[in-house]
Formats: sequence, C-alpha cells, structure tokens
Amino acid sequence: MKKHIAILPGDGIGPEVCEAATKVLSEIGKMYQHQFEFTFADLGGVAIDKSGTPLPAETLSVCKQSDAVLLGAVGGPKWDTLPGDQRPEKGLLGLRKELDLFANLRPVTIYDALADASPLKDDIIQGVDLVIVRELTGGLYFGEPRERRGEGKEQLAVDTLVYSRKEIERIVRKGFEFAKIRGGTLTSVDKANVLESSRLWREVVDEVAQDYPDIEYSHMLVDNAAMQLVRNPRQFDVIVTENMFGDILSDEASMITGSLGMLPSASLSQDGPGLFEPIHGSAPDIAGKGVANPLATLSSVVMMLTYAFEMTDEADALAEAINDVLEAGHRTADLTNDASKALSTEEMTNQVIDALTKKA
Ligand code: NAI
Ligand code: MG
Repeated sequence: MKKHIAILPGDGIGPEVCEAATKVLSEIGKMYQHQFEFTFADLGGVAIDKSGTPLPAETLSVCKQSDAVLLGAVGGPKWDTLPGDQRPEKGLLGLRKELDLFANLRPVTIYDALADASPLKDDIIQGVDLVIVRELTGGLYFGEPRERRGEGKEQLAVDTLVYSRKEIERIVRKGFEFAKIRGGTLTSVDKANVLESSRLWREVVDEVAQDYPDIEYSHMLVDNAAMQLVRNPRQFDVIVTENMFGDILSDEASMITGSLGMLPSASLSQDGPGLFEPIHGSAPDIAGKGVANPLATLSSVVMMLTYAFEMTDEADALAEAINDVLEAGHRTADLTNDASKALSTEEMTNQVIDALTKKA
C-alpha cells in the first residue's frame, strides 16, 4: 500500500523523535512492501521563526492531503513571551480544529519491564491496559460566551459548557467502536448528578448503546472515576468522556505508568487524516543532545498503523518490538538511574529496528 504521511517535527526534541519514527516506518515499509511517503512541514515555534505564524497555510494543506499526520512536539522557552494567540501551542490547537480531530485517544499500557517506574504498587498496575477517548473539539474549552464582565470587585468571568447531541453522539460512537475492536467494555464518564450537559450525554450514551448490544457499558461520575483510576485501574477498558474531564483524567491515567517518554496519543476525525503524537512536550532541557526517548513516538506510529492504515500485523510487530527491547533491558536515560548504561535516541531506535527485523 502507498501512504502519504505528513511529518511535523516541531520544536525541541520533536525533530529527534520524528527521525526515529521515519526510520522505523521506512523499515516497516521494506518489510511489508508498503510505500510510506513523507512530507515534512513546519508547525509551532519553528514555523513562527520562519514565517511568523505557528500554523502556516502550506502546513495545513500538506496535512489535509496526507493519509496521516505525525507530530513531534511544539513550544519552548524561546516563544514563551509571545502573546497567547501567537504562541506555538496555537498552531497545534488550530490544526486540531482545522482537521476536525474530535476524538483524542490515549492508551495506558503497562510494560512489565518498567513496572518500577509507576508511583502505584505492583499489584495495582499489573495488567492495566486501558484507553481514554476524550472529546476534543467541544465543551468548556470552546463554548461561547467566554469573557470578563464588569470591573474590580464586581468583576465576573464566564466560560460556557455546551454540547450538542451530534457532538456527543459521534464521540460516544467512537468509544463503542473502539470497545468493539478491543473486545472490551465501555465506561462513560460524566457529572450527570450536577450538569445538564452530562444528563444529555448520558441519554445519548444509552441511545447509542442500542446499536452495540454486545458491548458491556456503564456510567460513572467523574469524581469517582478519578478515584477508581488509582484505586483499581484494571477495571477499565475504554473510557469515553467530554473534553475537560478527559483532559484531567488522561493526565492522571498517564501517571499510572510513571514514564512520560513512553506514552502515545492519536486524534481522529470522522473521515479525514488523523494526528499521531507522543503526549510529552518538546523537553527543552534535553533538546539537541540526542538522548530523548523515542518510544512514545514509536508507539504513536503503532497507533497510526492501527487506526489510520488498518495495518494490524505491522502494528503488532512494532508494539512487540518495543516490548522486546524493554524486556532485553535497553533503556534511554529517562528510564534508568544508571547513566552509564543509557542508550541514545539513535541507539534505542536501532534496537527497535533490530527487534523488528528479527520478527520477519
Ligand atoms: P515536557 O514533556 O516537554 O518535559 C517534561 C520532562 O520530561 C522534562 O524533564 C523532559 O526532559 C522529560 N521528557 C519529556 N519527553 C521526554 C522524552 N521523550 N525522553 C526523555 N525525557 C523526556 O513538558 P514541559 O517541560 O512541561 O514542557 C516543555 C515545552 O513543551 C513547553 O513549551 C510546553 O508548552 C510544550 N509542550 C508541548 C506539547 C505538545 O506539543 N503536544 C505537550 C506538552 C508540552
Ligand atoms: Mg493536558
């Protein structure tokens, strides 16, 4: 198969981890006779420096013409003093909106070899394998009006939490679809005891559930979900929730593993290209040193292979290669206390490629 992939390396360690990804994708292309064509484009700080805007029209057009988008990370101290609407992050938000990426997926997988990194006890995290499906383009972060009213002691600030039936239905449907693909269950998280938008959410979940009679599903209040994620995360398979709850719960869930450099994400639209990126940022403290952990980005490639290209054999092979490398004891600096044994980004990437080609 031939696939066009837009690569947006971005800032900081972004280019370093994206290089790992293109190297691995090229290898997978050779192994499975696919043609992966990469088109590089600027996003974030690097785009601001070159063209004065975090999301150049050219970048948007490259993304829209691609089958999938891979992003490194954007931002860094260099651009921190710019006003909010001109900052690197604005480029990413704009891209999400333009590509209508309403479904954000964050899997949380425990690697036995890294169980030590978790702040939670071994017996709690063993076997955790869940994914949070967060609504990404609606709710409190986008609702209007959002404004200040009045002055001084009388001043008010307003944000609006609004969801349409349509917006809820499409994300909930994704949740059920993923539960079906994974052969698992669905937990819908809301605050229906307080919020009207959550009561509508619950109604829609119960309606959509009629189309998935084989999927076991339940409702959970968000405060309880926050507690259950650390008390007994194994009970979850697919969690579907609205934007703000998903923002908070997915950061909480990511800490179950304890290693930021390991976690991937995908943001999907209805039929356009999806965006795949590590959840970590541009890590300015280690940028340019060649020591960044590439595995979060390589796991994002696993998600791209799965969700954008439906190449499940290829995805499984890469996921297994990542696991094999960790089982064999290979670590980048963020995963070990023994600095003398730490692999560089390139060495880690080559280990993954070795493990991958051994499977063929
Ligand atoms: P960060 O994720 O960049 O770094 C936090 C800590 O984790 C740092 O010590 C860093 O060295 C380490 N780390 C992160 N990824 C790593 C990797 N792959 N390998 C090894 N170590 C890794 O978060 P921080 O410091 O809060 O933000 C730095 C910049 O990144 C900011 O400008 C922020 O706005 C931006 N950012 C961008 C995101 C994106 O593009 N999606 C997401 C989060 C932050
Ligand atoms: Mg967040």
